[in-house]
Amino acid sequence: MTTQPQRRSLIEIEEQYQVATYKKFPFVVERGEDVWVYTTDGNRYLDLYGGHAVVSTGHSHPRVVRAISEQAGRLLFYSNLVYNDARARAAEKLIEIAPEPLTKAFFVNSGTEANENAMKIARMLTGRTKIISFEGGFHGRTPGSVSATGLPKYRENVSPLLEGHVYAVFGDIESVKTLLDEETAGVLLEPIQSMGGVRMAEPEFYRSLREICDDAGAMLIYDEVQTGMGRTGEFFFGGRFDVVPDMITLAKGIASGVPMGAVLMTDAIDGEIKNGDLGTTFGGGPLACAALEATVDVIRDERLLENVRENSAYLFKELRKMLLVEEVRGLGYLIGIKLPDGTAKAVQQGLLEKKIITGLSEDPSILRLLPPLSLRRPEIDLFLDELSRIALG
Ligand SMILES: Cc1ncc(COP(=O)(O)O)c(C=O)c1O
Repeated sequence: MTTQPQRRSLIEIEEQYQVATYKKFPFVVERGEDVWVYTTDGNRYLDLYGGHAVVSTGHSHPRVVRAISEQAGRLLFYSNLVYNDARARAAEKLIEIAPEPLTKAFFVNSGTEANENAMKIARMLTGRTKIISFEGGFHGRTPGSVSATGLPKYRENVSPLLEGHVYAVFGDIESVKTLLDEETAGVLLEPIQSMGGVRMAEPEFYRSLREICDDAGAMLIYDEVQTGMGRTGEFFFGGRFDVVPDMITLAKGIASGVPMGAVLMTDAIDGEIKNGDLGTTFGGGPLACAALEATVDVIRDERLLENVRENSAYLFKELRKMLLVEEVRGLGYLIGIKLPDGTAKAVQQGLLEKKIITGLSEDPSILRLLPPLSLRRPEIDLFLDELSRIALG
């Protein structure tokens, strides 16, 4: 009897044909539903990493799936050379939820592209070159965004970095003042540094940033790729503490998993941008726009902002009672749990064995949670229970 050659596993095939980028979890996800993902070996995992901070409305939300299926059947794509109903609705919807006075959207395809464009706009309109960003910040992998990234590891193999980038200390307004001058086009920051270990500054820091940017004629840019679209319990961080930046960059959760990014800006900025200054083939494509529209509708109709506020308060409170937990940082569903002596990776592994996916950061003590905005009490309790067992073990 001849034995069949053993079929190669999907893991082996991906390893063979895909360029190594991320260290992957050792399973194959084939299906998702709300806060759960299902693997080919018959397991289900609670996804507290939200598909990499992306699946804002939960995995494969039926309304999002319906919207993109219907759109795909009508018109899969046409660029910005034509007007399009899905794009019109998406732009209107996004501006409806944006903090005043941000009244215009430029659609792109990813977070790094949104940041590249925001920095380009700041330089183009001020005629200046310097961009101030922050140590510990992450803004993407393309030349401009990586040059603005304040985590040295990501800049290591990029040569040459773009000129004109300097880094201030996050939360320290004096350090910004020493760098801010008449050459400064913009100040770019993640309002909560996520990859840097989920760090937020004092309210006064954001207010002072607004003031000193105004005084210097520099643009204030919030990278809300992670904090945007409801993750902090409001649609945007912009507007919090009465501070609205000149531009907000978005991606990740804005279309529930369909690739999309955006730069929100004021009328005044838009007024100075001419046809041809900016462009992208795929940005604002009908499929992504249909997904964005459905995403906003789901967040509103299912009261997901309220859900994030209520349930994150509960989660923060319970986490703070735990012996293992030294500190809980962040806001809403952008959560950093500080564990003793760089043990985050071991705890992540322990949780993975209990079929719970969590994330890490550049700080080895921080376990990072970026769950879907639809995460509710029963799954939070499940997580807390498993975490407390790891604490006891
Ligand atoms: C805050 C922030 N900005 C920008 C980016 C880059 O986004 P993308 O990977 O879509 O280019 C990321 C990605 O993790 C991010 O977290």
